[in-house]
Order: sequence, then structure tokens, then C-alpha cells
Amino acid sequence: MSLFVKKPISTLLNEAGETGEHALKRTLGGWGLVALGIGAIIGAGLFVRTAAAASQNAGPSVTIGFLLAALGCALAGLCYAELSSSIPISGSAYTYTYATMGEFLAWIIGWDLVLEYAVGAATVGIAWSEYLNNLLVEVFNMSPIPYQWCHSPFQTSPDGVGGIVNIPALFIVTAISLLLIRGTRESAFVNNIIVIVKVAIVVLIIALGWGFINEANHANYIPEPQKYVDHQGITYNFGGIMGILGAAGTVFFAFIGFDAVSTAAQETKNPKKDMPFGILGSLLICTILYILFAHVLTGLVPLEFFRDPTKGGEASVVAAIKEAMPQYGWLSKSVTIAILAGFSSVILVMLLGQSRVFFSMSKDGLLPKAFSEVHPKYKTPYKGNMVILILVALFAGFVPGDVVGHMTSIGTLFAFMLVCAAVIILRKTEPNMPRQFKTPLVPFVPILGIITCGAMIFGLGWENWARLGGWLALGFIIYFVYSKKHSKLNNPNKK
Ligand code: ALA
Repeated sequence: MSLFVKKPISTLLNEAGETGEHALKRTLGGWGLVALGIGAIIGAGLFVRTAAAASQNAGPSVTIGFLLAALGCALAGLCYAELSSSIPISGSAYTYTYATMGEFLAWIIGWDLVLEYAVGAATVGIAWSEYLNNLLVEVFNMSPIPYQWCHSPFQTSPDGVGGIVNIPALFIVTAISLLLIRGTRESAFVNNIIVIVKVAIVVLIIALGWGFINEANHANYIPEPQKYVDHQGITYNFGGIMGILGAAGTVFFAFIGFDAVSTAAQETKNPKKDMPFGILGSLLICTILYILFAHVLTGLVPLEFFRDPTKGGEASVVAAIKEAMPQYGWLSKSVTIAILAGFSSVILVMLLGQSRVFFSMSKDGLLPKAFSEVHPKYKTPYKGNMVILILVALFAGFVPGDVVGHMTSIGTLFAFMLVCAAVIILRKTEPNMPRQFKTPLVPFVPILGIITCGAMIFGLGWENWARLGGWLALGFIIYFVYSKKHSKLNNPNKK
């Protein structure tokens, strides 16, 4: 039995044939991939985490954080494009790692991807909850949900009310999990509409908000390094280089999802050309929108506004529009509705990604069979989806948004580093494998990707390193207690 047993690429390709994945129609072109990417990308990262990164880490220089995060994503994206065009299975970093770096690392990455997908879905669920309150108050003129029922037990309001459970976040992740169990898939049509709505509101906010930028709010563009302690007593490295690195790690969340493009390799007409176009195109469009958006947002109101939990601490974008552009009531209302719809689609994509990863891990024997058992009527891995729902619900209901947001970022950054390493390793171990798309300048691009993602992990601070370490340690235990003994590759004679 070996920790480093690798899944032969030929087996992977055969499996793709078995499940009919080979037979997928090649219908997507470059722009189709860009739309797929943007649908999965724009979400809570922009509409919630941007203000958090500005107030806790970098002030207006959150824009530089966006640039750094985009660089890390572009470098890792080039590596994703090579792997997905040479191992065209709609798996993910987990599948690529199993073929290149062996079972143990594949397990680690599969386990780590829970942070990207399941914990990421919880983060967007919590953000949804903030904007739901906004909808109730602003659009329906109702009272907001009481603080204790829309916050985790680790949060306290400025007037001393403690959170108990975040019910709206629980509601949305449950509703979308049930949809998935019924067999809802991303539909290209619905996705395209949501992309148009999301891009339209971002462009509107930039265009209309530009005239309301108060230059005084940008005067101290890169603040001096200092400690900032929030009303809950949490300390942050604010300003300077560390502030920018921390902001980059925080807003990195806003780019997560572009890797969804790479999983559509075998539905793409001309992967060699379309894959890099789709990945880099969706990244480029989002980067430009994000930087302009962050510039406007930090210009509308002073930082203190976002730091004040009674003002812009939650549902920050709509709060800032109401404060700085009160005559645009229709804008804040329509943005609220669009955001709620947009977040729901991001949650759907993330939960679907999670169920795909668990499905593959279960097929390989690393997780119990139940995770790949398919519902007799709906043909979905419903038991896996139920377990994922419980996991996501625990995070969404009982952990603060800042914590789950950072866990998602750090987990995904770690996965990206392994994907970059996989490209270098695979060039050595499988030099003759056909590659529809080749990452340029190997090993320079993957190494720079590893360094950039590593710098963002560094910026996220020791609490988050400890959380990642704790999560991976739990993964080690499960691997040695269960997965290694049940792995199909390691136990070929076991049924
Ligand atoms: N990038 C996605 C978001 O910001 C995960 O919600």
C-alpha cells in the first residue's frame, strides 16, 4: 500500500468514457466560457468582502489588493488550463492531483476543496442573509430580523445582543441544496441572464457612483501601517504592505469560481484556444470591474462608515449608496434584489462543485459509498448532498462571515499552489502526454503562481494559518483511519 499511488491517466480517460462524459457535446466557445466564469465569479466577494478588506486591511488601497489577487489567479489559471485540457475530466484539482502527485496529496486537496466549495457556499449564504435584511427593511418596509437570529454565537451587536444562529443563511443553503437534490443544474440560459444582471449593476454603480466620489476619502490611499481593533476586540494589521497582502487574501474570495471554467474542457469546441480565452477573459473583465468598483466604493464614504456595525458594517454596498447617493433610492433597491439572485446562483455553483468532488472521491473509495449513491428517481447523489448540507449549514448558521470567508480564501489559495506544482511535475513525469493547451514559460509561471498565492496566505495572518492547519490535520486523521484502508487503487482486490 502506498501513499503515493497514482491514478493512471488512461484509467481516468476510460472512466470519463464510462460515465458518458466523453460524449458531452462540444458546444461552448470562448465567450460562452467567459459567461460561465463571470456567473460563478461575481458574488459576495465583491458586495461584502470588499468593504471588509478596506475597513480591516487596506483602506482605499484595497484596489492594489484586487490587482495582486488577480495576478495570482491568472498565473494559477494558466496552470488550470493546461491540466484541464490534458486531463479532460470534469473533476477538479482533486482529479489532476490524483494523476500527478499520488493519492495522499489528492486526498489532501479533495479535503481542502471542502473549504473552497462548502465553506465558500456558507460564506455567500451569510452574505445573502445581510442583504435579505436589507430587502425586508428597504423594499418591504418591514422590521429587520432580530440580531440574535441572523448572527452566529461568536458575534455581538454594539448594544450587547449576542448572536444565536443565522437563520436566513441556513434557509438559503438548505433551499438550494434541496434544489440540487431534485436535479437542478446550471442552465446556460439562466446563467446568461444572471451574468447580464450582475455585470449591469456593477457597471451602473461605477458609472453613477463615480460622480459622488469624495476625494477626501481617497486622500490617505495607502495608510500607514497600524493596528486596527474592531468593536468585537479583534485586531487587524491595517495599512502598508501587510495591509495590502491581507486585503488581497480577503478579496481573493471575489475571484473564486473562475476555475469552474476549467472543468468545462470537454464541452469546449476548441480547448486550445477557448480555454485560456475563457479563463483569462473572465478574470480580466472581473478585475477591471472590481478595481473600478472598489475605487468608487471607498470614495463614496469614509472608512469609519464601513467600520460602524450600525451603518455600513453589513450589506455595505447598498448602505454606502444610500448614504452618499440618497437620490438614487431605485438603485439601492434594485441592487438589493439583483444581489440576492446573484448570490443564489453562486451558492448553487459551489454546492454543485462540492458534490462533484465528493462524488469522485467516493467512486475512488476515499469516502464512503453513500456519497456516490444516486437517487432512484432524481439521479442525483442525494445522500452526499445531504451530508454536504449539514456541513455547510453548520458553518453558515454558527460561524461569522469573516471567519468562513478567510477559510475559503486560504483553502483555495493552497489548492492553487498544488495545481501550479502539478504542472511542473507532470511536465517531468509525463513529457509526452498530449496537451491541448500548454502553460507558457514553465516553470516560471507556475513558480510565480506559487509565490503570489503564498504571499496572500502569508497576508491572511496566523489565525487563518492555524485554521487551515487544523482542517488539514483533521483530514490526515480521516485519511489514515478510513480512506487509505478503503481506497480502490490501494486495495485492488477489495470490492
Ligand atoms: N467569487 C464568488 C463570490 O464572490 C465566490 O461570491
